Amino acid sequence: MTKIKHLIQNFSLQKFKKGGQKMSNVENLVKELVKIHGKNRNSLMPVLQGVVKEEKYLSEDAMMAIAKELDLSTADVYGTASFYTFLDTVPRGKNIIRVCKTITCHMKGKDELIKALEDALKIKVGETTHDKQFTLLTANCLGWCHKGPVMLINDEIYPETSPQAALEIIEKYQTSTKK
Ligand code: FES
Repeated sequence: MTKIKHLIQNFSLQKFKKGGQKMSNVENLVKELVKIHGKNRNSLMPVLQGVVKEEKYLSEDAMMAIAKELDLSTADVYGTASFYTFLDTVPRGKNIIRVCKTITCHMKGKDELIKALEDALKIKVGETTHDKQFTLLTANCLGWCHKGPVMLINDEIYPETSPQAALEIIEKYQTSTKK
């Protein structure tokens, strides 16, 4: 696992070294990921996740490259990607906020939480801020029902999040992004 992380990090570094210009070559990224995870169908999910991690979403080019590298049909790749809501197929912001919309969190105030985030970020659920810093989404149960309402930002979970706490958390992300 650490080896994989290291390889992905190295790849990211190389990618940005080229005159500070982001190589839009998603094919190379896919090739690297296939090298890491193996050229077989079981690699589809980790490769999809690897692309989303780097690119923030799955473009058509990425899905075609994955299909080609793994010898799968593009329909197969697209079907898998669209089945899993965490594999975005449209561009997203740098930070992806997901608020659990399932029953327990709903009863514990997810609507107020979403409203506070929408007002603060000036977007609606499903949208991305103009500066591309935040995308606001809802998600199904995140497994923290005993501590709702629950918010997830990227990989970080925020249980028992009041609207006020959510705004403070968002502010921290805004500050760290500006640095
Ligand atoms: S219902 Fe929200 S985390 Fe389970």
